[in-house]
Order: sequence, then structure tokens, then C-alpha cells
Amino acid sequence: MTENNKNQGFLGNLLSLPNDNPKKTIIVAALLCLVCSILVSTSAVIFKPQQQANKAADIKKNILAVTGLLTEDADVDTLFEQFEIKVVDLATGDYADIDPATYDQRKAAADPTQSIELPADQDIAGIGRRAKFATVYLLKDGDKAKQIVLPIHGYGLWSTLYGFISFEADFNTVGGLQFYAHAETPGLGGEVDNPKWRKQWQGKKAFNDKGELKIEVIRGHVDFKVAGAEHQIDGLSGATLTSRGVSNLVNYWLGKHGFGPYLKKMRAEVEK
Ligand SMILES: Cc1cc2nc3c(=O)[nH]c(=O)nc-3n(C[C@H](O)[C@H](O)[C@H](O)COP(=O)(O)O)c2cc1C
Repeated sequence: MTENNKNQGFLGNLLSLPNDNPKKTIIVAALLCLVCSILVSTSAVIFKPQQQANKAADIKKNILAVTGLLTEDADVDTLFEQFEIKVVDLATGDYADIDPATYDQRKAAADPTQSIELPADQDIAGIGRRAKFATVYLLKDGDKAKQIVLPIHGYGLWSTLYGFISFEADFNTVGGLQFYAHAETPGLGGEVDNPKWRKQWQGKKAFNDKGELKIEVIRGHVDFKVAGAEHQIDGLSGATLTSRGVSNLVNYWLGKHGFGPYLKKMRAEVEK
């Protein structure tokens, strides 16, 4: 080694090697990987709070959209203040003494201490387990709720669809349905986002006069001359499997293992 090389240090020595030297290739590639991974993990840490804020804002937007309150120039946070947020014990249908500001239903669903495993015969939504408690969003008119928004999720064809369903003050008439996350095929199952299809849900009755859950996405088109049409929504053409998934997940969440006990209590309260 010359006197000059000794003074160059590790990097200088490395760079002075010919480009086809295997040692140089391996060390440069390793250094490049190290620098890139530091960049990626640093940006993941730096942008995490922003990503979480964006996710929270998106959820608020979807809740406003499903109640018909979202306008283009809406101040989302101000509009969202109209909602009273509560946490429901799904087993009893009663409100739980849990702070909705800190409760995360999606996280709870993945935590075995805060969730229950669903037996196969109950798991029509294909979710495996669900949180014991669920967050509900009440749009109040004085003491009474004029609309309620419930979180729902379940399996379609390729993915779990996450969204919301809203009800009018009677806790039976659907106000809207909206998904904020799914990976169904655009143009097929992805048509769950089509405003025309979503509009069909408005005004449908989830329960019949006997309190039985009847809402369903049917195969084909609803025949309005036939009894029961008030509970039915057209299937998505070419996407029967996603349509069935949506029908199942809505039925799971409105049924006796989901919000059923809560909705029953709320309907009884309204009918008093
Ligand atoms: C690439 C590809 C993507 C598909 N994506 C969906 C989908 O997202 N949702 C769905 O229900 N069907 C999807 N299908 C169609 C299903 O395999 C199935 O044919 C369809 O759900 C049957 O609906 P139909 O009886 O209305 O034709 C897809 C098919 C292909 C080839």
C-alpha cells in the first residue's frame, strides 16, 4: 500500500478500486441499502402522525357522506362536531363506559382480550373475530337521534370491505351505505362505490313489521311490484360474489350477533 492510499481512509481506498472489483460492488450495494433503509424508516416515522390524521379525517368524511352532510366545501371537523359518539356493548346493546375518543374498534378486533372469535355458523361476514364493543355515531336533534351511523365490515370476493351504514330516526330506514376501504375489482365488485348503486340503499327498510331482519342484496334487479321490495337492493352485475359479501356483512352487523340487540332497544325507545 502506498503512502497516498494510507491517507485516503476506508472510503477513499474503496472508491479507488476498479468498478468491476467484487469487494467494491458488494460494499457499495450494502451501503446503498443501508442509506435507503434509513431514509425509508425515517420517513415512515416522520409521516406516521400525518398519515393517522389523514385516516381519521377520511373516516369523518365518510361518516358525513353516509348521512348526506358532506358537501364539497364542507369544514369536516366543524360538521363532525354535530355527532355524539358512543361505544356500545354488542352483547347487551347497552352503552358502555368507554371513552370513544380513545377506543379503536379495528384494533380491538385484533386483540383477543377485547374481541370474540366467531363460530363458523355465525361468521357470515367472514371476519373471524369481532370486537366486543363498537363505536356508534349519533346525529342529534335535541335529545333524540335523527340519524345513526354504524361501522360495518366483512369479506367480499378479494378483500374485507370497511364502511358505514346509516339509519333514520326510526332505526330501521336506511339513510345510506358507504365503504371507505376495500380491494374489490374496479368495474366489478368495485361498483359498491358507484353512487347510483349506493343510492338504492336510501329508504330501504332493514327490518319488517315483526322486527325480523330482511334487508338483502338480491341477484338481478328489484321488482317493485313484489312484496318485500322495500328490503331489497339490486345485485351488482358481473359481481355476484361481492354483492353476496355485502349482503352478508350487512346482515351480520344488523343481526343478533352484531348491532341487533342495540337496534332493538333503540327501536323500542322510539316506539314508546
Ligand atoms: C379478474 C377478475 C376479477 C373479478 N373481480 C370480481 C369482483 O371484484 N367481485 C365479484 O363479485 N366478481 C368478480 N369477478 C367475477 C367472479 O369471478 C364471478 O364470475 C362473478 O362474481 C359472478 O357474477 P355474475 O353471476 O353476476 O356474473 C372477477 C372475475 C375476474 C376474472
